Amino acid sequence: MSAVPDRKPLTLHRLRAMHASGEKIAMLTCYDAAFARLADDAGVDVLLVGDSLGMVLQGHASTVPVSLEEMAYHTQCVARGNRTAWIVADLPFGSYQASAEQALHSAARLMQSGAHMVKLEGGGWTTDIVRRMIERGIPVCAHLGLTPQSVHALGGFRVQGRDEQAAETLRRHARELGEAGAQMLVIELTPSALAADLTASLPMPVIGIGAGAGCSGQVLVLHDMLGITPGKPPRFVRNFMAEGAGIGDAIRRYVAAVKDGSFPDEALHGY
Ligand code: KIV
Repeated sequence: MSAVPDRKPLTLHRLRAMHASGEKIAMLTCYDAAFARLADDAGVDVLLVGDSLGMVLQGHASTVPVSLEEMAYHTQCVARGNRTAWIVADLPFGSYQASAEQALHSAARLMQSGAHMVKLEGGGWTTDIVRRMIERGIPVCAHLGLTPQSVHALGGFRVQGRDEQAAETLRRHARELGEAGAQMLVIELTPSALAADLTASLPMPVIGIGAGAGCSGQVLVLHDMLGITPGKPPRFVRNFMAEGAGIGDAIRRYVAAVKDGSFPDEALHGY
């Protein structure tokens, strides 16, 4: 049964209002129609067609090998299963780094596949690309902190923004992206205090993953919160399947825990 039978389709306006009023936003990765329907029915606000699919579906060691065509295919699947959630699709590695023109072409492909917004990683050099996309009517989510497409340059999946200089760069990049028009920001694997600080100072919703409870909302990788990713999960993950009666129930519990602020728990999941 749907947790949100009469929910109107989520809009940018509504997501911004949730950020302004402090109502938490529940975001979850999703890669196909069946899970899109389940997650939408469970009340997930934002479905992220993440390039994490390269790791959790395709078995790669990073997101780097994922192609634009693969992202377009999974975005189409998610769009078919979804009814009301806001859909964000990742621009994969190599589909926006060359030029603003390349980024616009790649974003158009994902929007025509059913995305409502595209996400790209990095700050500084991405600001002009974001501005150009916004000018042309493409909603953009930025992604700062640990940016998995740069995992080889960053030296692994490690916490970002720990020292004052790195934190200041992150704050500057976030401010510039907001000024360029980015309507959402994902912040990954940073100290909780830094993410809370950013959330309080930015006009757009800031969605955290491994970034503490002070964000406008949370995102987890679906397979992580269902406990089916092989190996030891990162500290910021909670297995909602272990507590729930089936997948739909696990996702409903995730939404409820994000909304009431009980996930993430700083003592268990924070940095
Ligand atoms: O691809 C993805 O799943 C992501 C999340 C980790 C935020 O970008």
